[in-house]
Amino acid sequence: MLDDKDRIFTNLYGQQDWGVDAAIKRGDWDDTKGLMARGQDGIIDAIKASGLRGRGGAGFPTGMKWSFMPKESKNGKPSFLVINADESEPGSCKDREILRHDPHKLIEGALVAGFAMRARAAYIYIRGEYIREAETLFAAVAQAYARGFIGKNACGSGYDFDVFVHRGAGAYICGEETAMLESIEGKKGQPRLKPPFPAGVGLYGCPTTVNNVESIAVAPTILRRGPEWFAGIGRDKNQGTKLFQISGHVNRPCVVEDAMGVSFRELIETHAGGIRGGWDNLLAVIPGGSSVPLVPAAQIIDAPMDFDGLRDVGSGLGTAAIIVMDKSTDIVRAISRISYFYKHESCGQCTPCREGTGWMWRVMERLREGNAEIGEIDMLEEVTRQIEGHTICALGDAAAWPIQGLIKHFRPEIERRIIEKNGAAPYAVAAE
Ligand code: NAI
Ligand code: SF4
Repeated sequence: MLDDKDRIFTNLYGQQDWGVDAAIKRGDWDDTKGLMARGQDGIIDAIKASGLRGRGGAGFPTGMKWSFMPKESKNGKPSFLVINADESEPGSCKDREILRHDPHKLIEGALVAGFAMRARAAYIYIRGEYIREAETLFAAVAQAYARGFIGKNACGSGYDFDVFVHRGAGAYICGEETAMLESIEGKKGQPRLKPPFPAGVGLYGCPTTVNNVESIAVAPTILRRGPEWFAGIGRDKNQGTKLFQISGHVNRPCVVEDAMGVSFRELIETHAGGIRGGWDNLLAVIPGGSSVPLVPAAQIIDAPMDFDGLRDVGSGLGTAAIIVMDKSTDIVRAISRISYFYKHESCGQCTPCREGTGWMWRVMERLREGNAEIGEIDMLEEVTRQIEGHTICALGDAAAWPIQGLIKHFRPEIERRIIEKNGAAPYAVAAE
């Protein structure tokens, strides 16, 4: 369990005020000029040494991402930092807590990260449904300008840096980094083909880095306490502290900061009051937001909650949005509902996703009712493989993986429904 002294988000539950004076008392904006005096390369090297990996879901090494940004401006083009606060992954609600209770950690992080990558400004793209959080963020940015922390000669560093807040309008796909850039530019939010990656051609055609709220908000603390402190928490390639979001059938759903690599059992027992009805009542867990495959109870209980630990049980850390399902869950219905979500949020740009998500959802609905043939299970599996990796953005994969997880782990339950509905299996029941 994480020692209290190692917590970064000391106001996670809003016990104190979010405003600038309270933030300063908590240690934010403390000699930010001194942090910047380490120089661009010094900051990037420290973030690399800390082992920080992107907290938005993909886990890309943050320091390496920052180092992709050009050191010299080409054709007079500025560089930009875009902060992804379009938190929309079902189960995810950690960035919301930072925006509500610790917005100055994010704004200070934007300055040091933006400075490190020689960015002219940061755009914080906030989810449209986060109305109160946007109000808080606008007010916090105004406070930071008023104190001279950002704007001209930010923190007395001689560096000019602006922060703009841009509100989304309710489309999940605008959380995809290139759709977000399109949306900020005032266009329809549809993903671009990559490469080129945003570091080469990003916002308004300029070099851009897109980072998640949590990745940016932890940066000043890492610089203050030293990369070796952060790297000393967790385990190799899975370092630091992490915000976990625990929802579903636990006794006390919560958002909590703990060490990477904490076991699922410890996380749930320590912070969420255990599984509703006890551990024997646990059916399955989606450990990283709806885009990652579910894991059956027996395989997750002792799994380390980090990138490698969850990959080893066939899933992923994603955003660390842990959705706990007990034995009262209709698991086929749950995954069908997730399928509906992806069908609804597909931007429709590429055929496998536009047609495939609707097709998969319709088959999932028939499987839920048992109104199908056994052979359709394999056909559905095959379709998920045709979608996975064949679309412009990761939404296609995200729609395919939950279904693959269901079929892999709960095929007998799908077959049971078909057999019960039809009286007998229309096709031979496949072996487990
Ligand atoms: P990705 O793996 O394609 O990219 C990760 C980051 O690394 C991007 O910023 C990309 O530009 C950069 N990158 C990767 N290869 C690069 C290269 N060769 N050169 C330069 N930059 C490179 O993943 P993506 O599509 O950005 O994110 C997918 C993840 O997002 C999923 O795993 C899911 O967990 C998560 N997600 C999070 C949501 C949320 O609400 N926080 C919503 C939906 C998905
Ligand atoms: Fe749009 Fe889906 Fe293609 Fe992504 S995969 S670009 S959401 S159609």
